[in-house]
Amino acid sequence: MAGSANLNVMMKTARKAGRGLLKDFGEVENLQVSSKGPGDFVSRADKAAEALIKEELMHARPTYGFLGEEGNEIAGEDPTRRWIVDPLDGTTNFLHGLPHWAVSIALEHKGQIVAGVIYDPVKDEMFYAEKGGGAWMNESRMRVSARHRMIESIFATGLPFAGRADLPETIQDLARLLPACAGVRRFGAAALDLAYVAAGRYEGFWERGLHAWDIAAGVLIVREAGGILEPLHPEGDIMADGQLICANEPIFETFAKVIRRA
Ligand code: IPD
Repeated sequence: MAGSANLNVMMKTARKAGRGLLKDFGEVENLQVSSKGPGDFVSRADKAAEALIKEELMHARPTYGFLGEEGNEIAGEDPTRRWIVDPLDGTTNFLHGLPHWAVSIALEHKGQIVAGVIYDPVKDEMFYAEKGGGAWMNESRMRVSARHRMIESIFATGLPFAGRADLPETIQDLARLLPACAGVRRFGAAALDLAYVAAGRYEGFWERGLHAWDIAAGVLIVREAGGILEPLHPEGDIMADGQLICANEPIFETFAKVIRRA
């Protein structure tokens, strides 16, 4: 797909950051066996990736604002446009040498996401979308899956970990959903979970406790692939409360009923 100049900047930047992170990932695998472990190294790699992304994007579009997971926030001269960046989604996977993590970059214009890029450097998969232009993975157009029977469907979520208060609700979700479907996955990178719904690899995804940078790009990519994506609770605000549910169109209603009964 011939994307806009902004999309090209985003993809080029994601690839550049991804190359650096891939090198660091090789080192992380060696550090697993050291007594100190890879914690500090990974935290430095994450920050360095965000610094690189910020520099590239600010150089290309000096007037846009910037919001990054690692604490970089800049109010742009142009208050209507802002980059929303997770330099390393799936940090815990990365830290443990698990090859499932991604760079996520979104562009917001007047409060709406207009372009999104999620790049998985390990598999060299670039998921991207621009508003109105469909969703793509590398050179191929993506569509959500066509499965319409819950019992044949696979869903993904994020299981709460230390410090997250949503364990009881998630356990109840699982108790209702597991007997009704073909399986639930917890792969550990919300941006890739959304990209995988768009690619038709799973039928749906839901999670509580996410942040704008985890989901900004993925929200647009799912919608552009024909998926339905809503706040987990109908009155919610996805980007502010980080609670969402999405699925292909045939499954959405039944799936949402199961999850929203919490
Ligand atoms: C995390 C991942 C994970 C989700 C967490 C996120 P991070 O993002 O997306 O799948 O369950 O809630 O915080 O910290 O690796 O960028």
